[in-house]
Amino acid sequence: MTPALRRLLPLPAGPTTIAEAFGAERRPTPGRPWVGLTMIASLDGAVVVDGSSGGLGNPNDRELLLTMRDLADVIVVGAGTARGEGYGPPRKPGQRIGVVTNSGKVDLTSRLFTSGAGFVIAPASAPIDDTRCDTLRAGTDKVDLRLALATIDAIVPGVRHVQAEGGPTLNAGLLADDLIDELDLTVSPRMVAGDGPRLTSHGAHVDARFTIADLLVDDESFMFGRWLRARP
Ligand SMILES: NC(=O)c1ccc[n+]([C@@H]2O[C@H](COP(=O)([O-])OP(=O)(O)OC[C@H]3O[C@@H](n4cnc5c(N)ncnc54)[C@H](OP(=O)(O)O)[C@@H]3O)[C@@H](O)[C@H]2O)c1
Repeated sequence: MTPALRRLLPLPAGPTTIAEAFGAERRPTPGRPWVGLTMIASLDGAVVVDGSSGGLGNPNDRELLLTMRDLADVIVVGAGTARGEGYGPPRKPGQRIGVVTNSGKVDLTSRLFTSGAGFVIAPASAPIDDTRCDTLRAGTDKVDLRLALATIDAIVPGVRHVQAEGGPTLNAGLLADDLIDELDLTVSPRMVAGDGPRLTSHGAHVDARFTIADLLVDDESFMFGRWLRARP
């Protein structure tokens, strides 16, 4: 059974649903689509347990991820996560999933690509056979994420909302270029120790402030926050 959800913010507190809190349509940011990042972390900040994020979640977290996917026109994911989490085609008809890679090491024989849903986001230098998959080229030797998002409608016309799903390396790149408009963060009520990655990895230091728009808690002590980028 799905654990009951309670809204803590905005006030007044009371019963709610993931759809009510997270389901509003997002508007594009000037010059590019709205970018929402959906992640789950343990209380002590880990995003990976036993090699994937699956062990951290619960049914409400799953519903949050699916709700955000259904709202988005395009999903964007780093090559490490696409490989490690076994990405396949999305459930929303016609939705595309862009895999970000510098090396071009992407398995074009996977279901994600043979289904036609997958496309690659890569720099000009990446050895991708463009005849086997749609490829968005942005940057010379490494992906220019700003340019990629500004031109993503060359692959998917009319994109308004991009759902980013990590992993930590891609998140750090998006943050460095101030491309994250919204963070939907599930906090899983466990500490896992170890030295696994946190929400961002391999990035330069930044100080990007966010404000809380919605905060939910469920009967299993999972917390769901919708954080909006507070730009000066
Ligand atoms: N808890 C969660 O919500 C959550 C969500 C997602 C992932 N994860 C976990 O995170 C782990 C993977 O971490 P990760 O940091 O390796 O993930 P990642 O960011 O998905 O993958 C890293 C790889 O993606 C490509 N990449 C990332 N950012 C790029 C950029 N700005 N430009 C060009 N290419 C870029 C590069 O691929 P190339 O090497 O091909 O150039 C890079 O080596 C997995 O264990 C996964 O389960 C957890």
